[in-house]
Amino acid sequence: MTATDRIVLSSDHSAIALRQSIASHIKARGWEVVDIGPTSPDSTDYPEHGIAAAQRVASGEFRFGIILCGTGQGIMMAANKVKGIRCGVCSDTFSARMIRQHNDANMLSLGARVVGEALALDIVDAFLNADFEGGRHARRVDMIKAAEL
Ligand code: RB5
Repeated sequence: MTATDRIVLSSDHSAIALRQSIASHIKARGWEVVDIGPTSPDSTDYPEHGIAAAQRVASGEFRFGIILCGTGQGIMMAANKVKGIRCGVCSDTFSARMIRQHNDANMLSLGARVVGEALALDIVDAFLNADFEGGRHARRVDMIKAAEL
């Protein structure tokens, strides 16, 4: 398998069960999944896990990253500090499709205390089924890249 087939997953303690459900779901779709944890329900710090996953996407090891915390917000903010990462929080399938088509997102964040399991899996599918459209959207994504430190 190459990076084009690979997805890295991570979360904080609040989203372990949903993360594991997503891992099973996308494995069944044929993706190679590396779940970097954590597995302990002990309280942990979402920036550590968001940044760890983001660095492995930014390095080219993985095509996409999917990360979760209670709201999806904190871990998304942490991931977006890594150069080359474009991560959006999604609670609906339309947004999940659009962050791929228009923003060329390479990471998806979900809030385990916001969305239920069935909706989360639909959001993941919408994200993975969509492709970047390029064109005028590429120029705008380039503007984001140009602002990176
Ligand atoms: C943990 O309690 C919670 O703050 C975290 O999962 C996340 O929601 C932060 O953005």
